[in-house]
Amino acid sequence: MALIAPSILSADFSNLSQQIRLTEMGGADWIHCDIMDGHFVPNITIGPIIVKAARKITKLPVDVHLMIENPDKYLEAFADAGADFISVHVEEVVHLNRTINRIKELGCKAGVVINPATPVDSIVDIAEYIDLLLIMTVNPGFGGQKFIPNSIRRIEEAVALRTKYEAKFLIEIDGGVNNETIIAAKKAGVDVFVAGSAIFNADNITAATAELKNLAK
Ligand code: DX5
Ligand code: ZN
Repeated sequence: MALIAPSILSADFSNLSQQIRLTEMGGADWIHCDIMDGHFVPNITIGPIIVKAARKITKLPVDVHLMIENPDKYLEAFADAGADFISVHVEEVVHLNRTINRIKELGCKAGVVINPATPVDSIVDIAEYIDLLLIMTVNPGFGGQKFIPNSIRRIEEAVALRTKYEAKFLIEIDGGVNNETIIAAKKAGVDVFVAGSAIFNADNITAATAELKNLAK
């Protein structure tokens, strides 16, 4: 059974508590926070203060996706804000093994993220040390984009790599997940689905979450 992690990037922030509650009623498993600094990606979104708010609102694991320059500088801030998972982009971190160790030292689960054109095997030498591999299925920066088709092959490559190196990481995808794209992605072996617009732009947030949950079975 795969998990559903609604991305609050697409939520109505004037009503964040109610929006998160509605996803919980639909069976959401994690809450995904897309942190953007306008440098690593061409958009600015939220920081530790909203993770702190989400932490107060939900008991679900808070899954923090750092799309920022120099994430090492902010690991403590996000851990203190209540993150359960902290994921950093391999494209942005020079000493990735040290960063992963630091995230764990802070008591969080450690994830690495790869952009759509970053080879899956770029994580081969960190694979056994991470809890989560987040495969971007859109170019990071905005919700509501189209799922990049070759992502299915990349998911399959990640599953094969995990087996080959006897690693234990969960495979998460982020971007363009909806009730169509989830089918092939689930078959390819995804463990956690991030979905923003498919959930928060729906007429009924609870039903949209429940539908994805059902398709993730
Ligand atoms: C991209 C963001 C989005 C978001 C999900 O930087 O990370 O992928 O989480 O957006 P949707 O589900 O609307 O594509
Ligand atoms: Zn994300």
